[in-house]
Amino acid sequence: MTLYGGRILDAMIRVAPSILSADFSKLGEEIKAIEDGGADLVHIDVMDGNFVPNITIGPVVVESIRPLTKMPFDVHLMVRKPQDYVEDFINAGADILTVHVESDHNPHETIKHIHDLGKQAGVVLNPGTPLSVAEGFINEIEMVLIMTVNPGFGGQGFMPEVVPKIAKAKEFIEKEGLSVDLEVDGGITSENANEVACAGGNILVAGSFVFRGDPKERIASLKDACSE
Ligand code: DX5
Ligand code: ZN
Repeated sequence: MTLYGGRILDAMIRVAPSILSADFSKLGEEIKAIEDGGADLVHIDVMDGNFVPNITIGPVVVESIRPLTKMPFDVHLMVRKPQDYVEDFINAGADILTVHVESDHNPHETIKHIHDLGKQAGVVLNPGTPLSVAEGFINEIEMVLIMTVNPGFGGQGFMPEVVPKIAKAKEFIEKEGLSVDLEVDGGITSENANEVACAGGNILVAGSFVFRGDPKERIASLKDACSE
């Protein structure tokens, strides 16, 4: 069972604001604002200064915000050795953990580790990584996360050339008859949300778009993507 059953069973678009673009001096209020604004998940970007050049959020921050909301925590691990951190983030309150296929680990083992600890697992593909790399894991996971920017920083421009990969992933998931969520992350705004959602993405991550405006309006505009 995935968090939301994937788009095959449920056509709703879910929005996962990335707190990387929040004002960290008032993180609690920012989380409250996205919750009141209709967010479905909290996307937490974990960067280690090694897999990507930036350093962001560790388990202590996740633990401190866990009591503030019931929204599931969607923890995106952009770290060189994700298997070493899975347990710490789960203990801190992560509900779903996504790991890059480009990291230095055996994704089958990391996925199993996450499941053994009772949480959901997903694999992430960088813009340049072909879908075929994820196909070998598709029966083991609850989510595929497709990056539409190169990971490392919020506020980058959306890469439209990745959209065909989203459509291929959706087609593959349907062909296999699976209920796997298809999350898309990077540069998402109301300008490109339609093409992402119509291609099959059912969870849209958005950082700068949500936090650099009225979160409620902006989340609503994303949820409306690709609706008839
Ligand atoms: C990029 C992160 C994204 C990003 C989203 O490395 O994984 O989650 O911060 O922020 P925006 O929507 O500003 O691209
Ligand atoms: Zn992310």
